[in-house]
Amino acid sequence: MVQLAPSILSADFARLGEHVRLVEEAGAEVLHIDVMDGHFVPNLTFGPAMVKALRPHSKMRFDVHLMIEEPERFIADFAAAGADHITFHLEASRHVHRVVQQIKELGLTAGIALNPATQLDGLKYILEDLDMVLLMTVNPGFGGQKFINSVIPKIQVLHHHIEQKQSSCVVEVDGGINLETAPLAARAGADILVAGSAVFGQADPKLAVEKLRRAVST
Ligand code: DX5
Ligand code: ZN
Repeated sequence: MVQLAPSILSADFARLGEHVRLVEEAGAEVLHIDVMDGHFVPNLTFGPAMVKALRPHSKMRFDVHLMIEEPERFIADFAAAGADHITFHLEASRHVHRVVQQIKELGLTAGIALNPATQLDGLKYILEDLDMVLLMTVNPGFGGQKFINSVIPKIQVLHHHIEQKQSSCVVEVDGGINLETAPLAARAGADILVAGSAVFGQADPKLAVEKLRRAVST
């Protein structure tokens, strides 16, 4: 079954605890936390303090998506703040294998994210070490962008490859997920769908999660 990961990027930061509770009540399994540094992506968000502040408010898995250069500098801080999982970008680290090990040594699960135009080839010698691959279906940096359809074949190829290898690595798809695109990504082989504006950008985030669930269950 596909899991849903609402992204707090589109939430009302002044009412974050309350909004996170709503999506948890609606049955979302994962909370997606987008960290941006203004260098790797042209936007800034928040750091480990936000993860720490939210941790007592939720039992969901905290899925931290680092859109930052040199992610190795902040892994320990996010782990200490209460992250369950950390994903960093292949394009943002020169020592990919080392960063994956660093995350796992802290007892967290580890993922690598790929921008829409990045080939799957770069994962060849690291895939067996990964718990997750995150495929971006928008250019990272902002919520509310349009789903890039040309990533669909990449989801399919990765899904089949993982299946053939009988690996437990999951595929997360992030960007432009809504009631129309969620079924497309799920059919292509996504295991986890991130949704920001389609959940927290709606008047009723709880209902929005329920609608997304229905859209991927049929
Ligand atoms: C974009 C972030 C996404 C973002 C998705 O850089 O990685 O997680 O929150 O937002 P929507 O679902 O609105 O495209
Ligand atoms: Zn994200």
